[in-house]
Amino acid sequence: MQKAERLSKLPPYLFVQIRNKIREARERGIDVISLGVGDPDQPTPGHVIQALQAAAEDPANHQYPTDEEKGMLRFRASAAGWYRERFGVSLDPEREVLALIGSKEGNHHLCLAVLDTGDCALLPDPGYPAYFASAVFAGAEVERIPLYREDGYLPRLEAIPTELAGRARLLFLNYPNNPTAAVAPLDFYQRAVRWAKENDIVLVNDNPYSEIAYDGYRPASILQAEGAMDVAVEFNSLSKPYNMTGWRIGMAVGNPDLISGMSQVKENTDSGIFNAIQYAGIAALEGPQDSTRALIAAYQRRRDLVLETLRAIGLDPDTPRATFYVWSPTPDTRPSMDFAAEVLDKAGVVITPGIGYGQRGEGFFRISLTVPDARLEEACQRLRQAFG
Ligand SMILES: Cc1ncc(COP(=O)(O)O)c(C=O)c1O
Repeated sequence: MQKAERLSKLPPYLFVQIRNKIREARERGIDVISLGVGDPDQPTPGHVIQALQAAAEDPANHQYPTDEEKGMLRFRASAAGWYRERFGVSLDPEREVLALIGSKEGNHHLCLAVLDTGDCALLPDPGYPAYFASAVFAGAEVERIPLYREDGYLPRLEAIPTELAGRARLLFLNYPNNPTAAVAPLDFYQRAVRWAKENDIVLVNDNPYSEIAYDGYRPASILQAEGAMDVAVEFNSLSKPYNMTGWRIGMAVGNPDLISGMSQVKENTDSGIFNAIQYAGIAALEGPQDSTRALIAAYQRRRDLVLETLRAIGLDPDTPRATFYVWSPTPDTRPSMDFAAEVLDKAGVVITPGIGYGQRGEGFFRISLTVPDARLEEACQRLRQAFG
């Protein structure tokens, strides 16, 4: 069967290779501990599950979702209320908020709404791999913007050549960042908005980790920057703060033209999110937030354990202020695939090689903190034994 040309443009999916290596190791009888995938290990809060159960009992919710692709107005109002409370950002739920099937969906549909064949999309390197696929599926050409450790992984916007800025339609940002765990201060967003306006570029901030932050740090929203509503859209998600990755619910907020473009794409693609899940989303956003606080405390303990372990074996990771990832250079800047293979061989532990996030990720690796405490402790002990 002949597949579409666009599929051949996607790089080999690194995580499939890793999965194969894990399978082989397990077949050899190794008790593999995977620190590879960023998927919360703890359950969704009870009151959210109860809201789903109650809403699922109501036959009115068994039909196509209310307001279909836009999301129920009640959910959009809840998301707007949350943005007001959390970031001091005012949003019109009718025009400036869209319910999403997770922030990943937002990346994809925004590309279809904004990019035409041959348009140029600017993507961070290293960066979340799905941005590349979304841009390629929209027929766009991709240019990578390097992120450097010494800049705190913020792009050097002023170093983007005028010619490139002139032909780019879209820039993806993602702070707090996967995979580097870097964060963006509000003044960076302010500069980015100014730059995007000067160059007539759509700005996307993918912000699903805004609530996973440590030591009292509160990540910003790009919409807090003056003038952001003119050029920017932000994606947020219930996946991470409420352990709801499987539920598939999030939101796009920002410029009304971008929101209506995405809505138009969705109208022709999906029919929205099961109402009962949207009611559960409202319960998450408006209900008690103590479980998120407990979750962050648990991740912070895990973060500290991983940092201590990596430093004890001679590595030099940055201390993350947000996300549930630790990003570290490999020993002696060894190729990341080689180091990941060695860690699996010697310790039975899976780490993610930085090369999977782009050329600039080479010489680094990522550890995810979303594994139960006991398994993470065991993984850290094994790393100390194998590399200490
Ligand atoms: C940067 C980034 N964006 C989006 C997602 C997907 O999130 P969601 O579950 O909201 O689709 C992830 C998940 O790992 C991510 O790291």
